[in-house]
Amino acid sequence: MTVDRNCFQEGDLALLQDRKGRRHLLTLLDGGVFHSHQGRLDHERLIGHSVGGWYRTDRGHVLLAVRPTLGDFVRQMPRGPQIIYPKDLGLIIMLADIFPGATVIEGGLGSGSLTSALLRAVGVNGRVINYEIEESWLPKARANIQKVVGDASNLEIKIGDIYEGISERNIDRVVLDVPEPWQAVSTVGDCLLMGGILLSFLPTVIQVQKLVLALEADTRFQMIETTETLLRTWHVTERSVRPDHRMVAHSGFLITAVRCQPRVIGTPSDPSVEPPAETVAGNEEDEADGRDE
Ligand SMILES: C[S@@+](CC[C@H](N)C(=O)[O-])C[C@H]1O[C@@H](n2cnc3c(N)ncnc32)[C@H](O)[C@@H]1O
Repeated sequence: MTVDRNCFQEGDLALLQDRKGRRHLLTLLDGGVFHSHQGRLDHERLIGHSVGGWYRTDRGHVLLAVRPTLGDFVRQMPRGPQIIYPKDLGLIIMLADIFPGATVIEGGLGSGSLTSALLRAVGVNGRVINYEIEESWLPKARANIQKVVGDASNLEIKIGDIYEGISERNIDRVVLDVPEPWQAVSTVGDCLLMGGILLSFLPTVIQVQKLVLALEADTRFQMIETTETLLRTWHVTERSVRPDHRMVAHSGFLITAVRCQPRVIGTPSDPSVEPPAETVAGNEEDEADGRDE
């Protein structure tokens, strides 16, 4: 039987928006009822009816009903620990180069926001293996992931401390959202394949510096970069075009590093020897960096 994706089905997620832009997330159930101060709307009015349609409550207010995006869902889902927000989820997928079919080790399950984004990006042929130290988060996280990703049979959750060791080898990507990732640098170096990427999300600069110094000391990580993103929405009408007054400025920093051969200074015939300094083409940015050291 083909399902008409233009219409809501029982069990689907729906996002209702009122005329002031307030949004409500719900799962459509047979016999379910949505209540707000704008009145009541029976779920069966939506089931079998158009996505993107307008629906009137018993008090005469009109609500727009669409399917929530992954970003809509994670903003409103039940949560335990602090989640990673859509602002960073998109950039994590790009900076860590999470690709369809990849095998990803993730540190910290929390409420399952990042796990959901990773599962979507690796697709059905990829795998996510998550290390989570606190078993009590699992039911909520699993329920969240199931609602937004559906079948998550390619997700394996291991209860354990990722600092103690990762048993898998030849892994494409490691993505960490744990408080002390510098404790995992050695085990991440052992599990990543050559050219594999580590990405760590960290809220404070003190953590960032500790991680970067640990990555440098390990010698197997190169191309170590730290990124922050600021996201600003805009108000656009016929009479005024300006940034919105409020924005989410700080959430966290993203640190990436690539697993490489350790850098060794050997004999001149050794290909790992760096060319003399004067033969290296410099640029103004490099020189400016040098002054800060
Ligand atoms: C901030 S939450 C992760 C949130 C998650 N990324 C999300 O978007 O919903 C951090 C998680 O890491 C877990 N954690 C902390 N230290 C850990 C460790 N050493 N090994 C594995 N998990 C750890 C915590 O129990 C918590 O669930």
